[in-house]
Amino acid sequence: MRVVSGIQPTGNLHLGNYLGAIKQWVAMQDAMGADDVCLFFLADLHAISLPVVPSELANATVEMTATLLACGIDPERSILFNQTRVPAHSELAWLLNGTARMGWLNRMTQWKDKAGKNREGSSVALFDYPVLQAADVLLYQATHVPVGEDQKQHLELARDIATKFNLDYGTELFTLPEPFVSKAAPRIMSLRDGGAKMSKSDPSDLSRINLIDSDDTIVSKIKKAKSDADVLPSDVAGLDGRPEAKNLVTIYAALADIAPADVVAQFGGQGFGQFKPALADLAVAKLGPIRNRLTRLLDDRAAVAGALERGAEKARSLAAPTLRAAQQAIGLQV
Ligand code: TYM
Repeated sequence: MRVVSGIQPTGNLHLGNYLGAIKQWVAMQDAMGADDVCLFFLADLHAISLPVVPSELANATVEMTATLLACGIDPERSILFNQTRVPAHSELAWLLNGTARMGWLNRMTQWKDKAGKNREGSSVALFDYPVLQAADVLLYQATHVPVGEDQKQHLELARDIATKFNLDYGTELFTLPEPFVSKAAPRIMSLRDGGAKMSKSDPSDLSRINLIDSDDTIVSKIKKAKSDADVLPSDVAGLDGRPEAKNLVTIYAALADIAPADVVAQFGGQGFGQFKPALADLAVAKLGPIRNRLTRLLDDRAAVAGALERGAEKARSLAAPTLRAAQQAIGLQV
Protein backbone atom coordinates (compact mmCIF):
# COMPACT_ATOMS: atom_id res chain seq x y z
CA MET A 1 0.00 0.00 0.00
CA ARG A 2 1.30 3.44 -0.99
CA VAL A 3 -0.70 6.12 0.79
CA VAL A 4 -0.32 9.70 -0.48
CA SER A 5 -2.27 12.81 0.45
CA GLY A 6 -1.82 16.55 0.90
CA ILE A 7 -3.29 19.64 2.48
CA GLN A 8 -2.90 23.30 1.57
CA PRO A 9 -1.08 25.32 4.22
CA THR A 10 -3.57 28.17 4.11
CA GLY A 11 -5.68 29.12 7.11
CA ASN A 12 -6.20 26.86 10.09
CA LEU A 13 -6.86 23.17 10.01
CA HIS A 14 -10.59 22.82 10.77
CA LEU A 15 -12.88 20.03 11.86
CA GLY A 16 -13.83 19.24 8.23
CA ASN A 17 -10.18 18.64 7.30
CA TYR A 18 -9.65 16.65 10.48
CA LEU A 19 -12.68 14.35 10.30
CA GLY A 20 -12.72 14.14 6.48
CA ALA A 21 -9.02 13.51 5.89
CA ILE A 22 -6.42 13.76 8.64
CA LYS A 23 -8.08 11.20 10.93
CA GLN A 24 -7.87 8.73 8.01
CA TRP A 25 -4.22 9.63 7.40
CA VAL A 26 -3.40 8.79 11.01
CA ALA A 27 -5.45 5.57 10.91
CA MET A 28 -3.70 4.43 7.71
CA GLN A 29 -0.30 5.31 9.14
CA ASP A 30 -1.09 3.36 12.32
CA ALA A 31 -2.32 0.33 10.35
CA MET A 32 0.70 0.34 8.01
CA GLY A 33 2.49 -2.98 7.35
CA ALA A 34 6.22 -3.45 6.74
CA ASP A 35 5.94 -2.98 2.94
CA ASP A 36 3.64 0.03 3.09
CA VAL A 37 4.69 3.67 2.75
CA CYS A 38 2.70 6.74 3.80
CA LEU A 39 3.55 10.15 2.34
CA PHE A 40 1.80 13.29 3.56
CA PHE A 41 2.66 16.74 2.32
CA LEU A 42 1.91 20.43 2.58
CA ALA A 43 0.62 21.54 -0.80
CA ASP A 44 2.35 24.91 -0.70
CA LEU A 45 2.59 25.06 -4.51
CA HIS A 46 -1.18 24.61 -4.77
CA ALA A 47 -1.58 27.54 -2.40
CA ILE A 48 -0.23 29.99 -5.01
CA SER A 49 -3.21 29.34 -7.28
CA LEU A 50 -4.92 32.06 -5.19
CA PRO A 51 -3.21 35.25 -3.93
CA VAL A 52 -0.83 34.61 -0.99
CA VAL A 53 0.91 36.90 1.46
CA PRO A 54 4.62 36.01 1.09
CA SER A 55 5.48 36.93 4.68
CA GLU A 56 2.82 34.48 5.91
CA LEU A 57 3.20 31.45 3.65
CA ALA A 58 6.31 29.90 5.22
CA ASN A 59 4.86 30.41 8.71
CA ALA A 60 1.56 28.90 7.68
CA THR A 61 3.41 25.86 6.31
CA VAL A 62 5.21 25.29 9.61
CA GLU A 63 1.99 25.82 11.58
CA MET A 64 0.02 23.38 9.44
CA THR A 65 2.85 20.86 9.80
CA ALA A 66 2.72 21.27 13.59
CA THR A 67 -1.04 20.67 13.44
CA LEU A 68 -0.53 17.42 11.51
CA LEU A 69 2.05 16.29 14.08
CA ALA A 70 -0.39 17.19 16.89
CA CYS A 71 -3.10 15.11 15.18
CA GLY A 72 -0.83 12.06 15.28
CA ILE A 73 1.22 12.06 12.08
CA ASP A 74 4.57 10.59 13.13
CA PRO A 75 7.49 11.73 10.95
CA GLU A 76 9.42 8.61 11.92
CA ARG A 77 6.78 6.41 10.30
CA SER A 78 5.26 8.67 7.65
CA ILE A 79 7.16 10.78 5.15
CA LEU A 80 6.08 14.37 5.87
CA PHE A 81 7.29 17.22 3.66
CA ASN A 82 6.35 20.30 1.65
CA GLN A 83 5.93 20.13 -2.13
CA THR A 84 8.37 22.96 -2.85
CA ARG A 85 11.26 20.95 -1.45
CA VAL A 86 10.63 18.08 -3.89
CA PRO A 87 10.99 19.70 -7.33
CA ALA A 88 9.92 16.45 -9.03
CA HIS A 89 6.28 17.41 -8.28
CA SER A 90 6.55 20.49 -10.52
CA GLU A 91 8.60 18.67 -13.14
CA LEU A 92 6.15 15.79 -13.45
CA ALA A 93 3.23 18.23 -13.48
CA TRP A 94 4.75 19.84 -16.59
CA LEU A 95 5.11 16.47 -18.30
CA LEU A 96 1.50 15.64 -17.46
CA ASN A 97 0.42 18.97 -18.93
CA GLY A 98 1.24 17.35 -22.24
CA THR A 99 -1.32 14.63 -21.52
CA ALA A 100 -4.15 16.46 -19.71
CA ARG A 101 -6.84 18.00 -21.93
CA MET A 102 -8.31 21.49 -21.57
CA GLY A 103 -11.82 20.01 -21.71
CA TRP A 104 -11.09 17.75 -18.72
CA LEU A 105 -9.88 20.66 -16.62
CA ASN A 106 -12.79 22.84 -17.73
CA ARG A 107 -15.19 20.34 -16.18
CA MET A 108 -13.62 20.50 -12.70
CA THR A 109 -16.20 21.82 -10.24
CA GLN A 110 -13.53 23.39 -8.02
CA TRP A 111 -12.25 25.44 -10.97
CA LYS A 112 -15.79 26.52 -11.81
CA ASP A 113 -16.54 27.43 -8.17
CA LYS A 114 -13.28 29.22 -7.43
CA ALA A 115 -12.97 31.08 -10.73
CA GLY A 116 -16.69 31.92 -10.78
CA LYS A 117 -17.35 34.60 -13.36
CA ASN A 118 -13.73 35.75 -13.27
CA ARG A 119 -12.14 33.10 -15.52
CA GLU A 120 -10.14 35.62 -17.49
CA GLY A 121 -8.70 37.10 -14.33
CA SER A 122 -7.93 33.75 -12.65
CA SER A 123 -4.38 32.43 -12.42
CA VAL A 124 -3.27 29.72 -14.83
CA ALA A 125 -2.30 27.79 -11.69
CA LEU A 126 -5.93 27.70 -10.54
CA PHE A 127 -6.90 26.09 -13.85
CA ASP A 128 -3.92 23.73 -13.93
CA TYR A 129 -4.20 22.87 -10.23
CA PRO A 130 -5.56 19.32 -10.77
CA VAL A 131 -2.59 18.42 -12.99
CA LEU A 132 -0.16 19.23 -10.17
CA GLN A 133 -2.40 17.19 -7.89
CA ALA A 134 -2.18 14.27 -10.33
CA ALA A 135 1.62 14.60 -10.30
CA ASP A 136 1.57 14.57 -6.48
CA VAL A 137 0.10 11.10 -6.36
CA LEU A 138 1.42 9.52 -9.58
CA LEU A 139 4.98 10.45 -8.65
CA TYR A 140 4.88 7.97 -5.77
CA GLN A 141 2.76 5.28 -7.49
CA ALA A 142 0.06 5.95 -4.88
CA THR A 143 -2.47 3.18 -4.41
CA HIS A 144 -4.60 4.82 -1.68
CA VAL A 145 -5.40 8.54 -1.49
CA PRO A 146 -7.42 9.45 1.64
CA VAL A 147 -9.39 12.65 0.95
CA GLY A 148 -12.72 14.36 1.63
CA GLU A 149 -15.45 14.04 -0.99
CA ASP A 150 -14.62 17.44 -2.53
CA GLN A 151 -11.31 16.04 -3.83
CA LYS A 152 -12.77 12.92 -5.45
CA GLN A 153 -13.18 14.53 -8.86
CA HIS A 154 -9.53 15.60 -8.86
CA LEU A 155 -8.47 12.03 -8.13
CA GLU A 156 -10.64 10.69 -10.92
CA LEU A 157 -8.88 13.14 -13.23
CA ALA A 158 -5.51 11.82 -11.98
CA ARG A 159 -6.65 8.34 -13.02
CA ASP A 160 -7.66 9.64 -16.47
CA ILE A 161 -4.29 11.35 -16.91
CA ALA A 162 -2.42 8.21 -15.81
CA THR A 163 -4.44 6.01 -18.17
CA LYS A 164 -3.89 8.31 -21.16
CA PHE A 165 -0.18 8.72 -20.42
CA ASN A 166 0.30 4.94 -20.18
CA LEU A 167 -1.63 4.45 -23.43
CA ASP A 168 -0.05 7.30 -25.41
CA TYR A 169 3.52 6.35 -24.52
CA GLY A 170 2.99 2.57 -24.51
CA THR A 171 4.06 2.13 -20.92
CA GLU A 172 2.65 0.74 -17.69
CA LEU A 173 4.49 3.31 -15.65
CA PHE A 174 1.68 4.86 -13.62
CA THR A 175 -0.37 3.03 -11.02
CA LEU A 176 -4.01 4.15 -10.95
CA PRO A 177 -4.64 5.78 -7.56
CA GLU A 178 -7.79 4.92 -5.61
CA PRO A 179 -9.50 7.78 -3.74
CA PHE A 180 -10.44 6.80 -0.17
CA VAL A 181 -13.28 9.01 0.97
CA SER A 182 -14.10 8.79 4.68
CA LYS A 183 -17.43 7.01 5.21
CA ALA A 184 -17.95 8.70 8.55
CA ALA A 185 -17.31 12.28 7.42
CA PRO A 186 -17.11 12.66 3.63
CA ARG A 187 -18.33 16.26 3.77
CA ILE A 188 -18.62 18.19 7.02
CA MET A 189 -20.83 21.21 6.52
CA SER A 190 -20.58 24.78 7.80
CA LEU A 191 -21.98 25.33 11.30
CA ARG A 192 -23.87 28.36 9.94
CA ASP A 193 -25.28 26.86 6.75
CA GLY A 194 -26.08 23.16 6.30
CA GLY A 195 -25.89 23.65 2.50
CA ALA A 196 -22.25 24.83 2.40
CA LYS A 197 -19.12 22.83 3.11
CA MET A 198 -17.03 23.74 6.17
CA SER A 199 -14.13 25.59 4.63
CA LYS A 200 -11.05 27.66 5.43
CA SER A 201 -12.20 30.36 3.06
CA ASP A 202 -15.61 31.02 4.68
CA PRO A 203 -15.41 34.64 5.92
CA SER A 204 -17.29 33.69 9.11
CA ASP A 205 -15.08 32.02 11.73
CA LEU A 206 -18.31 30.83 13.40
CA SER A 207 -18.83 28.52 10.41
CA ARG A 208 -15.97 26.21 11.44
CA ILE A 209 -14.21 24.76 14.44
CA ASN A 210 -10.44 25.22 14.12
CA LEU A 211 -8.10 22.80 15.81
CA ILE A 212 -6.40 25.77 17.47
CA ASP A 213 -9.71 27.01 19.04
CA SER A 214 -9.86 27.19 22.85
CA ASP A 215 -12.35 25.04 24.76
CA ASP A 216 -14.54 28.11 25.33
CA THR A 217 -14.51 28.98 21.63
CA ILE A 218 -15.50 25.41 20.70
CA VAL A 219 -18.38 25.49 23.20
CA SER A 220 -19.61 28.86 22.00
CA LYS A 221 -19.40 27.95 18.28
CA ILE A 222 -21.44 24.79 18.89
CA LYS A 223 -23.96 26.76 20.93
CA LYS A 224 -24.34 29.27 18.09
CA ALA A 225 -24.42 26.58 15.38
CA LYS A 226 -27.53 26.72 13.23
CA SER A 227 -30.03 23.97 14.09
CA ASP A 228 -33.81 23.68 14.00
CA ALA A 229 -36.66 23.75 16.46
CA ASP A 230 -37.50 20.04 16.23
CA VAL A 231 -36.26 17.23 18.50
CA LEU A 232 -33.75 14.70 17.16
CA PRO A 233 -35.38 11.74 15.42
CA SER A 234 -34.75 8.21 16.68
CA ASP A 235 -33.64 6.88 13.28
CA VAL A 236 -31.27 8.39 10.72
CA ALA A 237 -33.93 8.56 7.98
CA GLY A 238 -35.58 11.23 10.14
CA LEU A 239 -32.58 13.50 9.47
CA ASP A 240 -33.41 13.76 5.76
CA GLY A 241 -34.30 17.32 4.82
CA ARG A 242 -32.71 18.63 8.06
CA PRO A 243 -29.16 19.44 6.88
CA GLU A 244 -28.02 21.28 10.03
CA ALA A 245 -29.29 18.53 12.36
CA LYS A 246 -27.73 15.89 10.13
CA ASN A 247 -24.38 17.68 10.16
CA LEU A 248 -24.27 17.95 13.96
CA VAL A 249 -25.15 14.25 14.30
CA THR A 250 -22.45 13.37 11.73
CA ILE A 251 -19.88 15.39 13.67
CA TYR A 252 -20.85 13.69 16.94
CA ALA A 253 -20.65 10.23 15.35
CA ALA A 254 -17.30 10.88 13.66
CA LEU A 255 -15.75 12.33 16.82
CA ALA A 256 -17.04 9.44 18.96
CA ASP A 257 -16.17 6.77 16.33
CA ILE A 258 -19.72 5.45 16.36
CA ALA A 259 -22.44 5.24 13.69
CA PRO A 260 -24.97 8.09 13.27
CA ALA A 261 -27.67 5.48 14.06
CA ASP A 262 -26.14 5.05 17.54
CA VAL A 263 -26.19 8.82 18.08
CA VAL A 264 -29.88 9.16 17.25
CA ALA A 265 -30.66 6.02 19.26
CA GLN A 266 -29.12 7.81 22.25
CA PHE A 267 -30.46 11.35 21.67
CA GLY A 268 -33.73 10.71 19.76
CA GLY A 269 -36.57 12.73 21.27
CA GLN A 270 -34.21 15.32 22.80
CA GLY A 271 -33.90 18.89 21.53
CA PHE A 272 -30.74 20.80 20.63
CA GLY A 273 -30.75 22.36 24.10
CA GLN A 274 -29.68 18.93 25.34
CA PHE A 275 -27.76 17.63 22.33
CA LYS A 276 -25.51 20.66 21.78
CA PRO A 277 -23.93 20.63 25.27
CA ALA A 278 -23.22 16.88 24.86
CA LEU A 279 -21.62 17.55 21.46
CA ALA A 280 -19.59 20.43 22.89
CA ASP A 281 -18.30 18.20 25.74
CA LEU A 282 -17.31 15.52 23.27
CA ALA A 283 -15.58 18.01 20.92
CA VAL A 284 -13.63 19.55 23.80
CA ALA A 285 -12.59 16.10 25.07
CA LYS A 286 -11.37 15.02 21.60
CA LEU A 287 -9.88 18.29 20.32
CA GLY A 288 -8.46 19.74 23.56
CA PRO A 289 -5.52 17.30 23.73
CA ILE A 290 -4.67 17.98 20.04
CA ARG A 291 -4.63 21.73 20.69
CA ASN A 292 -2.43 21.26 23.76
CA ARG A 293 0.09 19.24 21.74
CA LEU A 294 -0.07 21.86 18.97
CA THR A 295 0.62 24.70 21.38
CA ARG A 296 3.70 22.88 22.70
CA LEU A 297 4.94 22.12 19.16
CA LEU A 298 4.61 25.77 18.17
CA ASP A 299 7.10 26.66 20.91
CA ASP A 300 9.81 24.95 18.86
CA ARG A 301 9.17 25.86 15.24
CA ALA A 302 12.74 24.99 14.29
CA ALA A 303 12.13 21.37 15.30
CA VAL A 304 8.96 21.26 13.17
CA ALA A 305 10.81 22.74 10.18
CA GLY A 306 13.58 20.16 10.74
CA ALA A 307 11.07 17.31 10.51
CA LEU A 308 9.89 18.69 7.15
CA GLU A 309 13.43 18.86 5.85
CA ARG A 310 14.16 15.22 6.72
CA GLY A 311 10.87 14.17 5.13
CA ALA A 312 11.71 15.98 1.88
CA GLU A 313 14.99 14.11 1.59
CA LYS A 314 13.19 10.76 1.76
CA ALA A 315 10.49 11.95 -0.65
CA ARG A 316 13.08 13.14 -3.19
CA SER A 317 14.71 9.72 -3.35
CA LEU A 318 11.34 7.95 -3.75
CA ALA A 319 10.25 10.40 -6.47
CA ALA A 320 13.39 10.32 -8.62
CA PRO A 321 12.93 6.92 -10.40
CA THR A 322 9.33 7.68 -11.48
CA LEU A 323 10.23 11.11 -12.82
CA ARG A 324 13.13 9.66 -14.79
CA ALA A 325 10.99 6.83 -16.15
CA ALA A 326 8.34 9.35 -17.25
CA GLN A 327 10.98 11.46 -19.02
CA GLN A 328 12.33 8.36 -20.75
CA ALA A 329 8.86 7.17 -21.77
CA ILE A 330 8.32 10.51 -23.52
CA GLY A 331 11.70 10.31 -25.22
CA LEU A 332 13.31 13.26 -23.49
CA GLN A 333 17.08 13.37 -23.44
CA VAL A 334 17.94 12.61 -19.81
P1 TYM B 1 -7.57 21.02 1.25
O1 TYM B 1 -6.34 21.66 1.79
O2 TYM B 1 -8.69 21.90 0.82
O3 TYM B 1 -8.17 20.01 2.31
C1 TYM B 1 -7.41 18.98 2.90
C2 TYM B 1 -8.26 17.72 3.06
O4 TYM B 1 -9.43 18.00 3.85
C3 TYM B 1 -10.59 17.57 3.15
N1 TYM B 1 -11.71 18.46 3.49
C4 TYM B 1 -12.89 18.06 3.96
N2 TYM B 1 -13.38 16.84 4.24
C5 TYM B 1 -14.65 16.77 4.74
N3 TYM B 1 -15.44 17.86 4.96
C6 TYM B 1 -14.98 19.11 4.69
N4 TYM B 1 -15.75 20.18 4.91
C7 TYM B 1 -13.65 19.26 4.16
N5 TYM B 1 -12.91 20.32 3.79
C8 TYM B 1 -11.72 19.82 3.37
C9 TYM B 1 -10.22 17.65 1.67
O5 TYM B 1 -11.04 16.83 0.89
C10 TYM B 1 -8.78 17.20 1.71
O6 TYM B 1 -8.71 15.78 1.70
N6 TYM B 1 -6.22 19.86 -3.42
C11 TYM B 1 -6.14 19.42 -2.02
C12 TYM B 1 -4.72 19.20 -1.54
C13 TYM B 1 -3.93 18.27 -2.38
C14 TYM B 1 -4.05 16.86 -2.45
C15 TYM B 1 -3.05 16.44 -3.38
C16 TYM B 1 -4.87 15.93 -1.83
C17 TYM B 1 -2.92 18.64 -3.23
N7 TYM B 1 -2.40 17.54 -3.83
C18 TYM B 1 -2.88 15.08 -3.71
C19 TYM B 1 -4.69 14.58 -2.16
C20 TYM B 1 -3.70 14.17 -3.08
C21 TYM B 1 -6.78 20.48 -1.15
O7 TYM B 1 -6.81 21.63 -1.49
O8 TYM B 1 -7.20 20.02 0.06
